[in-house]
Amino acid sequence: MIYLDNAATTPIFPEVTQIIADTLANQYGNPSATYKMGKDAKRQITTARKDIADVLKVDSNNLFFTSGATESNNWALMHMAQRAKELGYGNHIVATAIEHPSVDDVLAHLETIGFDVTYVNPNEDGDITVDQFEEVSTDQTIGWVAMAVNNEVGAILPIESLAKKAEELNYWIHVDAVQAIGHDIVDFSSLPIDAFVGSAHKFNGPKGIGFLVHKPKDAKLAIRPLIRGGGQEKKKRSGTENLPYIAGMATAVTLTNDTKENRVRQDENLATYLYEALDEAGINYHRNGSKNLDHHVNHIHNLWLPENLSSQLLIKADLKGIAISAGSACTAGSIVPSRILQAYYPDEPQRWVESIRVSFGYQTTKDEIDALINILK
Ligand SMILES: Cc1ncc(COP(=O)(O)O)c(C=O)c1O
Repeated sequence: MIYLDNAATTPIFPEVTQIIADTLANQYGNPSATYKMGKDAKRQITTARKDIADVLKVDSNNLFFTSGATESNNWALMHMAQRAKELGYGNHIVATAIEHPSVDDVLAHLETIGFDVTYVNPNEDGDITVDQFEEVSTDQTIGWVAMAVNNEVGAILPIESLAKKAEELNYWIHVDAVQAIGHDIVDFSSLPIDAFVGSAHKFNGPKGIGFLVHKPKDAKLAIRPLIRGGGQEKKKRSGTENLPYIAGMATAVTLTNDTKENRVRQDENLATYLYEALDEAGINYHRNGSKNLDHHVNHIHNLWLPENLSSQLLIKADLKGIAISAGSACTAGSIVPSRILQAYYPDEPQRWVESIRVSFGYQTTKDEIDALINILK
């Protein structure tokens, strides 16, 4: 199997499988228990939280474990929107039109309970800018929502300028950083970001575990409990902690960070190789996303292949043992025109259904890219 769908999920590092298995078998004490086994388990959670916070360069007190980015996005967005409204700050949110469904659906829900949301589309250059956000903000605006890296086209969004401008205008800002973690794209340590989220299975960890980092600029927006019960996660998200996966996520993020420089170089080389190979093979393609190639990550590529239905290409690739996708995993099961490509290319319906996503991981090789090119040929 040639796996070129690493934006959907990534293979787990063997070291991570090992630590999960060891912890599951040997560290089964309840972290809330007062005897040694429980205390050891609790210590392991504290260490994992600190390790992850160190890599992200944030205070571990602001990091909450969750079941993944979907939960984290739901928690932070619902909370910040509702709390700001209760405080009388307003009811208007500005968000990009290219967010993951775990953000987009929350915003749609907020619209049904008294919030107004303005969605910012990519401009003619395929970029989303701070000026666009500012132009549509009103005296009712409470917060801005922008992902760090888009999961379908690999576009990098201007989080630094958005975060600084949001601070200046007194808005909270929420950042879905899922596709950016481990790629050194956003400096979370210095930017005034109120909430950002990550998910372990996007950086070679297990599925079903992730985090929310919540550090509101306005203390009145301090996070409120998502789940009440035994008081875990500082009484904000009760339930016995998933220690094996928490330890697995910490190992995954540490290994990702340790190997970052090599991977950045490898992704760059593979990206160059992909486009050279496409050109050499004489394949008719257009890159989707920003017109400025510097506004893209090197590990997620979205290609429009005119006159080739992506649904058919996916099947042909699958029959040859190659996994690629036509968009986000959540919509890939049923091929519906990509909402993200619709936002980028509102007047080019063919493009919505004739595009594929190819995404690299640490295990990707040039031979695998050759195999893909052969199919496309
Ligand atoms: C940008 C983005 N946000 C959120 C998610 C959801 O993450 P999880 O699978 O941890 O719920 C994904 C996963 O596809 C994603 O790519």
